[in-house]
Amino acid sequence: MKKNIQSAKEKKKIIVAITGASGSIYGVKLIQALLMFGYDIHLVVSPAGYQVLDYEMQIKGPTELKEALRFPKLPGEILIHEHHDIASAIASGSFRTQGMIVSPCSMGTLAAISQGLAQNLITRSADVCLKERRTLILVVRETPLNAIHLEHMLKLSRLGVTILPAMPAFYHHPQTIDDLVDFITGRTLDAFGIENQLYRRYQQTD
Ligand SMILES: Cc1cc2nc3c(=O)[nH]c(=O)nc-3n(C[C@H](O)[C@H](O)[C@H](O)COP(=O)(O)O)c2cc1C
Repeated sequence: MKKNIQSAKEKKKIIVAITGASGSIYGVKLIQALLMFGYDIHLVVSPAGYQVLDYEMQIKGPTELKEALRFPKLPGEILIHEHHDIASAIASGSFRTQGMIVSPCSMGTLAAISQGLAQNLITRSADVCLKERRTLILVVRETPLNAIHLEHMLKLSRLGVTILPAMPAFYHHPQTIDDLVDFITGRTLDAFGIENQLYRRYQQTD
């Protein structure tokens, strides 16, 4: 059972990380949705995460990322932390958040979290979520998977982490790439307990 660690009066705070797996768009769409739902976001992007953001979405660095997120037009606020800043508030368990989502999550970051290697702000924040028993969701992306990847996922799943592969379904009849991305974003919000209508849910037809 996850702890509800924020009082009703506090603004809803969530940590989001974008790492160097393919699918930066998953992180960007997730952040836009969370801002729309009024969450304050503490964002950390790994150096490889920025490389892939540039390669896949032509977004270069934090300023362009904020522009792409159309900050500050949405109700929530976003604070971008430096990847190496382990003195940041989110590196401490005493700073209260509702949890963390890593989207997309590389196999490298998955491995570091599974091994407790809290050497940057992403892996430290994830380690904090684990020790404080807060929600942690990893939107992992790699294919095919080797036994090392699978063992890390199994270990973390047994610790209560949600392993949410960026693996869209087709029963909602996607027509565009946006439909595929919205499916994963919606399922990620579902796993965090946030009601949303980002994708068409399965319904029996007969
Ligand atoms: C264009 C591009 C796509 C990549 N896609 C993936 C991927 O889908 N999954 C993955 O685990 N690593 C992928 N990588 C490799 C990671 O970026 C690399 O392992 C990196 O060290 C991960 O670091 P991070 O976890 O700190 O972001 C990709 C790299 C590039 C340049």
